[in-house]
Amino acid sequence: MDFRKLMEAGLPEDRLALVDMAARIASEEGVPLYLVGGAVRDLLLGRPTEDLDLVVEGDAETLAAVIAKRMSGDVVSRSQFATVKLKVRGSSLDMVTARNESYARPGALPQIAHGTMREDLARRDFTINAMAYPLHLGSNANLLDPHGGQGDLRHGLVRVLHDGSFVDDATRIMRAVRYEQRLGFALEERTESLLRRDLPMLDTISGDRLRRELLLWLQEERRLKILARADTLGVMAAIHPALAGAGASAWEAVGGGGHTSDAEVCLALLVRSLSRTDAEAIIERLRMLPGWAAVVRDTVDLRERLSELVGASESPSRLYESLAPFDPAAVRGWSLAAPDAGVREALALYIDKLRHVKPLLSGRDLMQLGVPQGPAVGAMLVRLRTAKLEGAAEGRSQESDLVRDWLAEEGRISPGATD
Ligand code: CTP
Repeated sequence: MDFRKLMEAGLPEDRLALVDMAARIASEEGVPLYLVGGAVRDLLLGRPTEDLDLVVEGDAETLAAVIAKRMSGDVVSRSQFATVKLKVRGSSLDMVTARNESYARPGALPQIAHGTMREDLARRDFTINAMAYPLHLGSNANLLDPHGGQGDLRHGLVRVLHDGSFVDDATRIMRAVRYEQRLGFALEERTESLLRRDLPMLDTISGDRLRRELLLWLQEERRLKILARADTLGVMAAIHPALAGAGASAWEAVGGGGHTSDAEVCLALLVRSLSRTDAEAIIERLRMLPGWAAVVRDTVDLRERLSELVGASESPSRLYESLAPFDPAAVRGWSLAAPDAGVREALALYIDKLRHVKPLLSGRDLMQLGVPQGPAVGAMLVRLRTAKLEGAAEGRSQESDLVRDWLAEEGRISPGATD
């Protein structure tokens, strides 16, 4: 396997040029520089790779500053983990100092000391993420793979490096499921039993970190499959007992059509059977931001209203009024999962069509037609939308005619108003 060739085939030209330049400068400076983690994994798999993470055996900030100076770039950000982002002509690289981590207690953020590349790899989550390519060695370089990552990639296995991995960082439980489903891999046998053993460790993870991992799940293409698999492994119940069974049920709701639905719709499918009390508990546990919290609350509340929607398609304007207060993701979720086919149809009609209906005339147009400035304009726009929903006004001129009729009824038509 010639990793250099994989880089040439897999990286866009500008990024490859930037990596090569950084490698040359590192080599001149005598500082070892490695490509690591997800990029190495994805290049070996022939998958597109987004973020390029580089590890410096030495001081990342100093090396980044030298590279930035030589290439007229910028070092744009720093984080608590001594990560720097190097930006050169629109391309960027993340650089970090090789480190040796220890965990003060389960779930805590790691305590960090400078380390070697090998030490840095040994603290990582899975063998397939624990490989490094020494860029500073140029064409003589061999992939550093001390934990058998290439073998596990070949066999399609997600494997932890040691028995304490999930205890060190229980978000790895959620990461394991994500990689397994994304790559179509399996959990290695011992890894699966450690994962099951350490499920209670998820209690040590903060709401913010859990929510971020859930978001990463929901951003994956196979998000519903991930939820179903997480359920089978007991991960959903470990996140919150009320979520037991919810992942499998979300998956079943779309008949295994795992690629459908965006992240928030998927969230709606996940929480749709919760009681209000459990919904609030989960919003709190995951410290959900207002957007997600609205999806969760509206999904649960809408469940109580579904029976009113039988036959609702017959009056589009009433359907619109009933559903407009709810978050669209909640409505979309129920349009996939409501037990009654007629209700599903009504919800889909609203979400695909009705909610986009609005008058072609603007408030200014209405005023030109004689509607007095103020709340009457808003009220007239609503009335027009209702008429359009009922199919009573198509184009602009029909809308104008309607408005004139209404104004005349109210005795408000202004004699000189034109279209
Ligand atoms: N990592 C880890 N333990 C974690 C998080 C990250 O060991 N809890 C390591 C892994 O080696 C991972 C690297 O940090 O490859 C970068 O993390 P991240 O960007 O989250 O993952 P990627 O591998 O880049 O994967 P993705 O494609 O999902 O971004």
